[in-house]
Amino acid sequence: MSFPTTRMRRLRRSEALRRMLRETRLSRDDLVAPLFVVEGSGVREAVASMPGVFRFSVDTLVGEAKELVGAGLPAVLLFGIPMHKDATGSGADAAGGVIQRAVEALKSACPDLCVMTDVCLCEYTDHGHCGVVEHGDVANDPTLERLVSTAVSHARAGADVVAPSDMMDGRVAAIRAGLDVGGFEDVAILSYAAKFASAYYGPFRDAAESTPQFGDRRSYQMDPPNAREALREMRLDLEEGADALMVKPALPYLDVLARAKQEFDVPLAAYHVSGEYSMIHAAAQQGWLDGERAMEEALVSIKRAGADIILTYAAKAVAQRLGS
Ligand code: PBG
Ligand code: ZN
Repeated sequence: MSFPTTRMRRLRRSEALRRMLRETRLSRDDLVAPLFVVEGSGVREAVASMPGVFRFSVDTLVGEAKELVGAGLPAVLLFGIPMHKDATGSGADAAGGVIQRAVEALKSACPDLCVMTDVCLCEYTDHGHCGVVEHGDVANDPTLERLVSTAVSHARAGADVVAPSDMMDGRVAAIRAGLDVGGFEDVAILSYAAKFASAYYGPFRDAAESTPQFGDRRSYQMDPPNAREALREMRLDLEEGADALMVKPALPYLDVLARAKQEFDVPLAAYHVSGEYSMIHAAAQQGWLDGERAMEEALVSIKRAGADIILTYAAKAVAQRLGS
């Protein structure tokens, strides 16, 4: 059976056929909206490098979360941006800190919304690194204590899922133990397991004011060419007790995602990061491509490659277009 007996175009002729035969479907249930929270009140500040993304104070954040729930989204991922930054990132685990207050407010206003928190120090340190710096580099083990304390403080505030994004060794085991000792054995860990040292985080660092003040993150985030090492990172995090694993960024690492899908029987998340989002918007603003179609094509490809969960700044807009 070959040409002309086989004609692949027969099944592409109508939207009805295409609808029936579609192998992958993007759903609102797949999407998580990342949100930036700042101090103050009444704040809804546009992020210049990320069209359609805002920084909210806790009060306006609640309004936004209600809209996300209204759009049918199941979850948010919170990033706190404190007023005060110091060498150890003391704001990260402060009772009454910006993220802790945000979690409390969201869980009381939207009890059915799954609240995830990014656990890292870079938004809270004055040097902008993801851990405690000693002798010019991020010191692994002293950072673990800070991360555990941060994760426990998020759990205490009511977080459903904590998502460590620092790439220190041993953080998942340390956080799991800390949560369990603290009585938070039901709080899940979504590990940023395969997180690459990527140029695509640029717009996020503007939004979160977390650009390293010296050096870069290559001594802890992964080297982009390495896929086998990414699988090893993921396996280690699973052994340490991660409930779900993340690959980040998404589009440049779909091969890693697809291999992870074959390898592991746990939920897989992919983070469609700030640069991936902003480059589509930038090209659309120039009139060079159809932004909505390009965004949905990107997200469906992430799902096709194996993601169960997609973290994307386009979550709200896409959910509103998808409908029920
Ligand atoms: C913090 C963190 C980053 C992102 C998520 N958590 C930035 C970084 O590692 O520099 C990136 C998210 C994005 O670009 O959208 N560790
Ligand atoms: Zn960080």
